[in-house]
Amino acid sequence: MSEKNHRRILVTSALPYANGPLHLGHLLEHIQTDIWVRYQRSRGHECHYVCADDTHGTAIMLKAEQQQQTPEQLIANVQAQHCNDFNDFLISHDNYYSTHSEENRYFSEQIYQKLHEQNLIAERSISQAFDSEKQLFLADRYIKGKCPKCHAPDQYGDNCEVCGATYAPTDLIDPFSTISGAEPITKESVHYFFKLPEFNGFLTQWLSNDNLQPAVANKLREWLDAGLQEWDISRDAPYFGFEIPNAPGKFFYVWLDAPIGYMASFKHYCQSKPLNFDDFWDQQQAVETGTELFHFIGKDIINFHGLFWPAMLNASQLRLPTAIHAHGFLMVNGEKMSKSRGTFIMARSYLTHFKPEYLRYFFASKLSSGIDDIDLNLEDFVQKANSDLVGKLVNI
Ligand code: 2FM
Ligand code: ZN
Repeated sequence: MSEKNHRRILVTSALPYANGPLHLGHLLEHIQTDIWVRYQRSRGHECHYVCADDTHGTAIMLKAEQQQQTPEQLIANVQAQHCNDFNDFLISHDNYYSTHSEENRYFSEQIYQKLHEQNLIAERSISQAFDSEKQLFLADRYIKGKCPKCHAPDQYGDNCEVCGATYAPTDLIDPFSTISGAEPITKESVHYFFKLPEFNGFLTQWLSNDNLQPAVANKLREWLDAGLQEWDISRDAPYFGFEIPNAPGKFFYVWLDAPIGYMASFKHYCQSKPLNFDDFWDQQQAVETGTELFHFIGKDIINFHGLFWPAMLNASQLRLPTAIHAHGFLMVNGEKMSKSRGTFIMARSYLTHFKPEYLRYFFASKLSSGIDDIDLNLEDFVQKANSDLVGKLVNI
């Protein structure tokens, strides 16, 4: 491939949820992206790096309620913390925005409208668990009960941590809502679905381009092989998010408006810069101007970015990502980060002890183009900082 002289690149990292502080897993991704962005800039390319907080959904609504705040107050406080942490880790975002913004509402409605006009939205009634005390539909993670197999108490709706059995939340014995303690009832309500199966041909084609890492494309092909399902993009009130136009009491599911947040953040950034938004997002204009779009994400969210998002973009005459770069999970001392083992390390706790450069260097030395997990072995971390950074670099 010939190297273009001057590239115009838009880069994103996944939008962190606004329901809690950043941990080192977030930093793995933002440091990886930041290194890539700084490299492109150092080559003289135009490289814009935008991100935002992902602010919608039930978890944020309930957390705000618990803390006796409005969701708007909660997300403002969390955003301020996130920005501080990213600044102190020297992450060079050009704009860090919020999905709870007018730009994001505008684009979400516009994209939904486009899908609706093309008959790509189905509407049908589904039955779900409902907390009649709290007057709230319950996602599986808000239901607990006794394991139907071994009768262990306090197990979540899909699998038993004691005996390992897997089951449906409706199989739990004496189920209860983790929010109010009430026994869930089953209730019907109308939901809106994005007709993903209509994109089977488009997505097969998309996966055959080399814009995805081979392991990611293979994983996504498994979804296609299993048969795409219509994607439920609505949630019932009460929900913290954007109400769906002409559908009172129905809100866009957080995962519908989250990736649109990339566009919203860039739009907001363009308002103060001599930049043309459509050069980067309009399907035709992006081809004409040769702009590029890269998403850095974790391997747990490749279905949203590698299937749902390209289908939404394509249906809305918006440009597709040039490439998606997925990374593996961050492990600490060879295991998943764990609160009880004290290895669930928050960004701020790290910063109270060490300089950001040590971690940036450590991650840089471990990251690759693959999706293998990255291990932050603490002894290795100390050793690398002492021998490579202090011993070699500082001595030079
Ligand atoms: O998995 C997450 O943490 C999501 N908040 C990522 C959203 S990325 C993008 F789609 F907004
Ligand atoms: Zn069990």
